[in-house]
Amino acid sequence: MQVASDGEAALRLLEESNVDVLLCDINMPRMDGMELLRRVRERANPPEAIMLTGHATVETAIEAMKLGAYDYLSKPYHITELDALVRQAADKRRLRVDNQRLRAQLARQSAMPDIVSESDAMREVIRLVERVAPSDASVLITGESGTGKELVAHAIHRLSNRADSSFIDLNCAAFQESLLESELFGYEAGAFSGAKGRKLGLIELADGGTLFLDEITELPLQLQAKLLRAIETRSFYRVGAVRKVEVNVRIVAATNRNPDQVVADGAFRADLLYRINGFQINLTPLRERPDDIEPLAHYLLKQLAGPTPPELTPEALEALRAYHWPGNVRQLRNCLERAVLLSDQGRITLSELPPEVARPTSYVRPGIPAPAGSPASVAAPVDASGAPSSLREVERQQILAALEQTGWHRGKTAEILGISPSTLYRRLRDYNLERRS
Ligand SMILES: Nc1ncnc2c1ncn2[C@@H]1O[C@H](COP(=O)(O)OP(=O)(O)OP(=O)(O)O)[C@@H](O)[C@H]1O
Ligand SMILES: [Mg+2]
Repeated sequence: MQVASDGEAALRLLEESNVDVLLCDINMPRMDGMELLRRVRERANPPEAIMLTGHATVETAIEAMKLGAYDYLSKPYHITELDALVRQAADKRRLRVDNQRLRAQLARQSAMPDIVSESDAMREVIRLVERVAPSDASVLITGESGTGKELVAHAIHRLSNRADSSFIDLNCAAFQESLLESELFGYEAGAFSGAKGRKLGLIELADGGTLFLDEITELPLQLQAKLLRAIETRSFYRVGAVRKVEVNVRIVAATNRNPDQVVADGAFRADLLYRINGFQINLTPLRERPDDIEPLAHYLLKQLAGPTPPELTPEALEALRAYHWPGNVRQLRNCLERAVLLSDQGRITLSELPPEVARPTSYVRPGIPAPAGSPASVAAPVDASGAPSSLREVERQQILAALEQTGWHRGKTAEILGISPSTLYRRLRDYNLERRS
């Protein structure tokens, strides 16, 4: 509780702090209660006002209520009466503030990045995003490369109460261990040779906001331990520091590998996985949600070519719908980007599509038996029961298929798959893939 001796002093106090309830006398020196009420009500987010008066007349009471006072009490009043009134007024103010926050949040929802979601699978994703975004829960987004994990991470941030703070992303596969450590946690001057000044880590820059850890399963084990401690204690040490820094960050992580498998392989700590996958969102591969292909194609064409993009002929559209998209939405985007450049007379026909899309020969949808004579090496793996086999096996087969398509050209393969060359190299190593002579 704060006390001011007159109206002007009260205004100054209100300027400096966030007050829920204002109790004020009507008769005061310098600025009387009515004038104070008038001035207070002009401000954004005013407190609820309760007017106290020695000689309440009906007129002053009516005027006070007209000016927006919550209520008035005439002296002498009972302290329990005052107590009840203050509580009610405070409740009202808090409801009003909550309401404003919710409205602002609703307004932000229309700021949801465009995520095409025609299929049931993607609708479910949107539902989960909307559900989890306003909480502080960590989220793990899984899905093959190019399925939209980064897009979803952004959406979670934008729909959260942290939307006005920063969204910081770090690709855990992009740096070697020591660099990654100083990127993430920062360092003090003199922490190692070359560390001239203090550098703030990304975890610190994300304070109050969201830290997006992309490809988290690539994080080296030693850093996994440090990250886990930082999440658990909500604090961390800069490299070479003796004092802890406290942070309030929300962690959103992504991986295109099967996290349980990575844990089983001993490359990822189970306790860290448990910390970050409190809420998991899985993005279905594009080939398993063909309903999204056409709306995505139209959406991406507008993005790439403006409001009147070239039109897809029915044959071209059919080819897009039939293709298996190992690189998912990113590959679809690349394919359309190329088609827009090649298109003539505002049309995209089969000839503007890459050969593997326009003339698919070898892919067999999971669960559908391969027609006799189709090359098994490029077909999706299907076990004896007809069910798709493990995620790793699917990925391995897709990489293999893309390698064969490009004659083992790694650059082109990475492009088709919609992954970076460094990711491709890692996968080749992981899966022990070598060209058969
Ligand atoms: N549902 C969607 N609606 C609109 N655009 C999408 C959708 N899904 C993906 N995209 C677009 O496809 C591209 C690839 O998406 P994104 O970068 O989010 O994939 P990713 O899962 O993070 O891939 P990687 O694992 O390779 O990092 C982006 O340009 C993204 O905007
Ligand atoms: Mg990504």
